[in-house]
Amino acid sequence: MIRLENIHKIYKMGENSVKALRGVSLNILCGDFLSIVGASGSGKTTLMNIIGCLDIPTSGRYIFDGEDITRIPSKRLALLRNQKIGFIFQNFNLLRRRTALENVEMPLIFRGVDRSTRKRSAIAALERVGLSDRMTHKPSQLSGGQQQRVAIARAIVGNPAVILADEPTGNLDTASGQDILKLLISLNRSGSTIVLITHDPAIASYSNRRISLSDGCIIFES
Ligand SMILES: Nc1ncnc2c1ncn2[C@@H]1O[C@H](COP(=O)(O)OP(=O)(O)OP(=O)(O)O)[C@@H](O)[C@H]1O
Ligand SMILES: [Mg+2]
Repeated sequence: MIRLENIHKIYKMGENSVKALRGVSLNILCGDFLSIVGASGSGKTTLMNIIGCLDIPTSGRYIFDGEDITRIPSKRLALLRNQKIGFIFQNFNLLRRRTALENVEMPLIFRGVDRSTRKRSAIAALERVGLSDRMTHKPSQLSGGQQQRVAIARAIVGNPAVILADEPTGNLDTASGQDILKLLISLNRSGSTIVLITHDPAIASYSNRRISLSDGCIIFES
């Protein structure tokens, strides 16, 4: 489903440049649960931003669902991102003034889905993450673990082909982190493709494939 070939990413900063990725090649298959581990600064988020079409590589080829991402116009790229990719971040990235339900509806608004369908889908997604009793709460009225579950509902509401999670348990206590992990595992069992970035080897051990990044290169794959 996802094919990265010899991906390089160089951040130019005036005179200096940072080689964040140096020749990464990777295939992600439908139904995979891939974890990406590596030290701080090794390029994990850079790689995820490229996989998630939030950023484009400096060189290399990226094929998503048979389409060469490095060659399509940015408008189409935004559409593809909205329809095929769900994101989960370490800091949840919820809209603070919106309720849980409104946050989950957001990707469908961008997609032009009508109001009643949107609401129905958002309710179903919140039920799936066990938050049917918190739909009208705003983020500040929810615990960290609950906020992350809202973010997961938002990621899955449009049935994306792949879910990308960057340190989703990084800001949570152990118990809430375990709940989030269980949720990701159950999504994977029901067919979702998941890419999970983590510092934690224990969390990585739940995935069925693991890559380890160091200094912008894959140094280990299992
Ligand atoms: N927008 C940017 N401009 C310049 N340099 C950047 C930018 N984003 C990242 N970098 C650099 O690229 C390298 C890889 O960063 P990246 O964020 O991918 O690391 P990471 O593995 O996600 O680290 P962490 O575990 O701390 O989140 C780092 O050296 C970082 O300083
Ligand atoms: Mg990072």
